[in-house]
Amino acid sequence: MYILAFETSCDDTSIAIFEDTRLIALDTKSQIKEHLPTCGVVPEVAARLHANNVFLVLENVLAQTGLSLDQIDYIACTEDPGLLPSLYVGLTVAKTISKLLNKPFIPINHIQAHIFANLLERDLGELEFPSVCLTVSGGHNEIYLWKSLFELELLGQTQDDSAGEAFDKVAKMIGEGFPGGPVVSKLASEYNGEFKGIFPKVLLDKESLNFSFSGLKSSVKREIDKRIAILSTENISTKVSATRENAINFLTYEDKIEICFEFENTVIDILTTKLFLAAEQKRIKSIVLAGGVSANSKLKRIISEEANKKGYKFLYPSKPVYSQDNAAMVGILAYYKIIKNK
Ligand code: KG4
Ligand code: ZN
Repeated sequence: MYILAFETSCDDTSIAIFEDTRLIALDTKSQIKEHLPTCGVVPEVAARLHANNVFLVLENVLAQTGLSLDQIDYIACTEDPGLLPSLYVGLTVAKTISKLLNKPFIPINHIQAHIFANLLERDLGELEFPSVCLTVSGGHNEIYLWKSLFELELLGQTQDDSAGEAFDKVAKMIGEGFPGGPVVSKLASEYNGEFKGIFPKVLLDKESLNFSFSGLKSSVKREIDKRIAILSTENISTKVSATRENAINFLTYEDKIEICFEFENTVIDILTTKLFLAAEQKRIKSIVLAGGVSANSKLKRIISEEANKKGYKFLYPSKPVYSQDNAAMVGILAYYKIIKNK
């Protein structure tokens, strides 16, 4: 069977074609360049770009496979959660194709699709149930008990920002573009000093599986302001003329990489602590990572090391492109929904 899968929930226009579990085409048009001036995604701008790009991306995936639309058996598309104007571009195109071809439409939940990204290029047998799954993206941040293929129980979630959002905001605060995760991570990797723990490791209650990143974000802002104030007193002309935007230009490179290093380590520490706490509470020896932040190589390395030490099985998406928003995860979830009648 051939499945045509769409993902337009945020700022990637992504379409994939599957032949059963085999990904035979994937094309993604990113909007990073267009969202750089605002250092964040403006939903209406994203929707307009999806509308401009979606048919081009569709032509590309069809060309990659040599298939024509009428050979497709199922159409799948992310339905929620996400930015509504963005979601509706993909949904409108996908549902129209499904109606015109008279082929079934498979609605897809975005978070579930991120979790199923762990099945890309893997057999179902490689998954262990139950598992504990940390889903961490720009728009969401949860821990689930993954009981069986289609059974997820929410164990904890963020009370405010997600970790990805915190990465994005820190990058913006230091004037370093968008999306924040890869930018902050790269700067952090350039710092050679010791980890000092200058930011709070917010864990809420000792036994809680919920997250909170807004306090961490505010303390990064206070640290930046403190360093800018010191730099401006050292430079009288800056003190007189500094708006926040141009004051950022006076943060030294050393300051930026140290702040990124301290911030990234603190986020990784919080995520890792909560993930293993959940696994210990549930007495489960299998853990899974999903979502945009799972592209972070240091996060994967730290969890891997701890999992090895403690004898846990650890799975994360087999390629970084499967961590971020992409239509391959939509297609693989659609495949299992179809064959399992879900
Ligand atoms: O899943 P995703 O592509 O979109 C949402 O569903 O939100 O996740 C995007 C988020 C952004 O906040 C981005 O900064 C973060 O994932 N991200 C990373 C990395 N790559 C992307 N965060 C940390 N380290 C990375 N390497
Ligand atoms: Zn996502």
